[in-house]
Amino acid sequence: MTSDASTLSSDQIPPLPPLKLPSTFFTGRDTYLQTLKDCFSPATNSERKKFLLYGMGGIGKTQICLKFIVQYGKTWFSDIFWIDASSEHTIDLCLRQIAKKHKVDSTPSAESALEWISHRKNWLIVFDNADGGYHVVEKFIPPGSEGSILITSRDKGLARISSGTNYIEVTEMGEEEAIALLLKSAKVHNNSVNVAIAAQRLVATLGYIPLAIDQGGAYVQTCDCGLDYYLELFIKHHARLMPDEEFRGASLYNKSTYGTWEISIEEIKHRAGGENNAQRLAAQNALYLHEIFAFLHHDNISEDIFKNAALNFMRRKGQMTDGLPQSISLLDCKGLFLDDDGNWDAFQFQAGIKVLLSFSLIRGNGKLYSVHPLMHTWSRDRISVGNVSDCCRKSRALLACSFDYQEDDYKFYALLAPHIKANGEYAAQFMSNDQYFDDQNDRFALEPV
Ligand SMILES: Nc1ncnc2c1ncn2[C@@H]1O[C@H](COP(=O)(O)OP(=O)(O)OP(=O)(O)O)[C@@H](O)[C@H]1O
Ligand SMILES: [Mg+2]
Repeated sequence: MTSDASTLSSDQIPPLPPLKLPSTFFTGRDTYLQTLKDCFSPATNSERKKFLLYGMGGIGKTQICLKFIVQYGKTWFSDIFWIDASSEHTIDLCLRQIAKKHKVDSTPSAESALEWISHRKNWLIVFDNADGGYHVVEKFIPPGSEGSILITSRDKGLARISSGTNYIEVTEMGEEEAIALLLKSAKVHNNSVNVAIAAQRLVATLGYIPLAIDQGGAYVQTCDCGLDYYLELFIKHHARLMPDEEFRGASLYNKSTYGTWEISIEEIKHRAGGENNAQRLAAQNALYLHEIFAFLHHDNISEDIFKNAALNFMRRKGQMTDGLPQSISLLDCKGLFLDDDGNWDAFQFQAGIKVLLSFSLIRGNGKLYSVHPLMHTWSRDRISVGNVSDCCRKSRALLACSFDYQEDDYKFYALLAPHIKANGEYAAQFMSNDQYFDDQNDRFALEPV
């Protein structure tokens, strides 16, 4: 793979993905939306406007920004730049994508994008999920005094960028909006007193956390069970979960959201052992994908990673290897979604994806999938100590097999780079004795783009 990011030419950078929309179940949050409105309104007279939304994972910071953009984006701003600020690498890539889209330079770079942005007026940059600390974002602030900057972070320390009093903590939902969200997400239209009481108890148990409420609603809708049933399940499951050693690092708050996700995994596991052939296979695929996704970057997980790995696997499997260990040996036809004739089976891949989507364990955007950052942490936390190395190693083997360094598919490499980087970090964290694989060494030897 190519080494220096700044030397990438325009056609080697993947296109900028379209702006995401807020959840179709978006509910409430009027006070925060009003605060953003007051800060960024053209009527507010100030030079560069900056604001930080901070608060715990899953509380709805990103969603509020997306909703704000839907409400005022087109009328107030000439350009909106959405930056995945979860790491320096993702910020750099987003900025290069912006530079490419707007033909800022023949070799698009973060610097050229920032310089170009600084000469425009009425722009809004959102640095979303800026959880890597103040220093990561600081150097990517466009020079000058024009424009508006909105930041979301779990870390209040980012307020150093927003300056003055321009920050606010996003906290739990109010009871009314929490219930409204639950009923929308569960698609419960019955407004009887019993439903209202069940909903009230359930949102209180879920701590009024939108992520947990949405997850609970998705379960109720997918499994067609009642709110009462889910509440009972949650209480039982949660009691089991609280002392669980696997979740030692999780805060009390995380444990209640972890609980809602565990329930969904339990149901998928149940289906994976069921009698219905198609449902069983789909559920097994979903569980497998969930574990592989856990060791990739949480955003922009492309179907092409799996498809290319499958095609390369078929091409490479009979090749001579000088007897050196090959990571390809960790992969098999089932895990690569290859059918009996050795063809890529998009249907089986999609069957697994659909299950994960139906439980809101992932989100889809065309052929790209993402996992909420907090859910992504949980998906690693929940894997037993004995298995975690294996899962990480398999994801790594999949990544290594997904590209052929003799081909110049730079767009695919650029898409792959954040996954290789994230996987490397997880490998350092979870794999004590990393085994040498010759094919992997070849492919990962150079720093990714
Ligand atoms: N106002 C809302 N209406 C409906 N659903 C919401 C709302 N806020 C949050 N959610 C649900 O909760 C999920 C998490 O929200 P969001 O990604 O905004 O959290 P966050 O605070 O940005 O978390 P993180 O710090 O982990 O990035 C969303 O994907 C959505 O399912
Ligand atoms: Mg967020």
